Amino acid sequence: MAVHLAQEQPASKEVMLYAEDVTKTFMSNKKEITALDRVHLTIHQEEFVSLLGPSGCGKSTFLRLVAGLDAKTRGTLTLNGVPIEGAGRDRGVVFQQYSLLPWMHAWENVAFALKKTKGLTAAQKKEMAYHFLELVGLRGFEKHYPAQMSGGMQQRVAIARALVYRPKMLLMDEPFGALDAQTRRDMQDLLMRIWAEEKCSVLFVTHDVDEAIYLSDRVYVMSAHPGRVAKEMTIDMHKPRDWNDMLSDRFVHYKREIVSELERQKSLHKQALQA
Ligand SMILES: Nc1ncnc2c1ncn2[C@@H]1O[C@H](COP(=O)(O)OP(=O)(O)OP(=O)(O)O)[C@@H](O)[C@H]1O
Ligand SMILES: [Mg+2]
Repeated sequence: MAVHLAQEQPASKEVMLYAEDVTKTFMSNKKEITALDRVHLTIHQEEFVSLLGPSGCGKSTFLRLVAGLDAKTRGTLTLNGVPIEGAGRDRGVVFQQYSLLPWMHAWENVAFALKKTKGLTAAQKKEMAYHFLELVGLRGFEKHYPAQMSGGMQQRVAIARALVYRPKMLLMDEPFGALDAQTRRDMQDLLMRIWAEEKCSVLFVTHDVDEAIYLSDRVYVMSAHPGRVAKEMTIDMHKPRDWNDMLSDRFVHYKREIVSELERQKSLHKQALQA
């Protein structure tokens, strides 16, 4: 099968997210837990980067630090050169649970994210909410309540809500984890289209190796607890991709490399626990 090379190297773009020696410890039952240990990674402008790793390795912790929902213990963490010191409109976050407000229509859920945005009239906020609902394929469902929508549709509303203030960076923590396989595939393609249109950087956390390769420009594999960067891999395949690409030699090569690294990390972790 033909292998297409990427037309553009994302590494040539400016650095958007920069993490150096990022460590995060928690106190739990008077014991210190190191969730992240000197994590070093970068995400460039318009780059789609996935974080893969075993459960408990600190993926969500890292994403929360970038979102500004939690503070690092040590290290450097900057967005566009500015230290991250709290949540901000330059980052949109999508979690596995869509957490929509059940008493609001889809468009109101999206417009709610603009509540504190100054300089926009109510009509403009509504117009933006409608625009982003259309972008995620929900035209005609603006006045549906969350309970009237499927899981995939609700997650699309959550994505529209994260995008409506045009963040520079989209942070997604297993956003499709709760969806059935077919809906998940549809959502991956939708996300690829949105990413091409919105041109934001994406930090995408997943357990799914295929999903990470399919969507990403680069993949970071983390070690088991405490989380460190174990491997970084550039996915050198053209975009947009389609299901055919998942059968290509190159895709299978990436998958083999990543799965073997995950297995290696698993056995290292087992050895460490037995020592
Ligand atoms: N608020 C907290 N207090 C204490 N420990 C925490 C806290 N949040 C996370 N941890 C610990 O930090 C480690 C990393 O957790 P995290 O949720 O980031 O893992 P994860 O890689 O996202 O796992 P999963 O794939 O299961 O979602 C775990 O050992 C977890 O118990
Ligand atoms: Mg997690």
